[in-house]
Formats: sequence, C-alpha cells, structure tokens
Amino acid sequence: MTTIFEELLDRFRDAQATVEDERLRDFTSSLCWSMPQRSLEPNVLKSSILLDRTTELSSPSFRPLAALVAKHRNELRWGQTYTPADFGQHFIDNYGWLEVFGTRGHFANDQMAGGLLILGPNIVYPDHHHVAEEIYIPLTGGTEWRKGESGFVPRAAGEVIHHPSNVNHAMRTGAEPLLALYLWRGGPLAARSTITGKAE
Ligand SMILES: [Fe+2]
Repeated sequence: MTTIFEELLDRFRDAQATVEDERLRDFTSSLCWSMPQRSLEPNVLKSSILLDRTTELSSPSFRPLAALVAKHRNELRWGQTYTPADFGQHFIDNYGWLEVFGTRGHFANDQMAGGLLILGPNIVYPDHHHVAEEIYIPLTGGTEWRKGESGFVPRAAGEVIHHPSNVNHAMRTGAEPLLALYLWRGGPLAARSTITGKAE
C-alpha cells in the first residue's frame, strides 16, 4: 500500500515534470527519486490554515500536489527557518515550509532538497541569500519576486525562478497566499539564509 509520504514524493515529482525548463531539467535529470523514507514527527504551523486557499488557487497541473498536502497537513513536518525576531510575528504566522526530501525531510537526500514554501497574503519575504543554488516554481499566481539588483517582477504559476548561489532575492505576495515548489542544491541544504533586507 502506498503511504501518503510516497504519494507526496510522487506528486512532487509529477508536478515539476509538467514544467518544461532547461534549468529545472539540469537540476532533476540526475536526481534519483528512489529515496529512503524517514519517520518524522508531524509539526503543524499556524500557516497551514492557508492550504485550502492555495489548493483552490493552484493551477490544474499542480493541484494534485497542493490538495494532497492540504488534506494531510497535520501528518507532515512543517518547518520554519526564522523566528519572530527576524521578520516579526505576523511573518511567522504566515510562513512555513515542508521539506519533502533533503537532509531533514520526509525522504533522505544529501545531494538536493525539495519541498514547498507557503506564504500568506500581503507578506514580504525580505532580501536574503544562501550558498545553495535554488529553483522556485510558484504553484499559485499573483506574487512578485526580485533577485540581484532588479526590482520586483510579477511571476505566474508554473514559471521557473532561478536563484544562483549567494545572489540576493526576495518575494512578496498580494491579496492571496503563495504555495511554491522549491529545489536546493550545491550548498549546505539545511543552512539558514543570510538576511540582508528588512521586513516592511
Ligand atoms: Fe532562497
């Protein structure tokens, strides 16, 4: 019988496979999807309440993944890298990630981390950077992203957003929450980002 964790990994794999992008394929072409499962205690966050809305907002090719995560939210180990001292309590209540695979996620992988990020409406995730190279694919639309010295750019669901190693980046949501798929490689996969921006 397939566990919800196996189903989670399958749907994560299916979701990214619907996106055609060379940078994404460069990440995933060598990835072995057969990964050992970890037994993790669930950890539920306040931001989990946003998952019903992000499921509604997800584009159809991503909805199976979004819906699975929403349905089983209380069985999954949600995490946060920051504390209220970083960006305030409101940010913390509207932010969280789920590592599907990586050095601490539901499946063990030392080479790459993959998961989902959730952000509530009207949230600014200030400028930050990290050694790892990163790809984001928003599963919902209506958010704005910036990197390097550029300004904020609107990004649609299904776009591939690539953050090279140590390049500053930030994102902000509008009236609706964001659910985004992420992949990390080439650095300490559980490292805390270096923050260079301030919460607004
Ligand atoms: Fe990042």
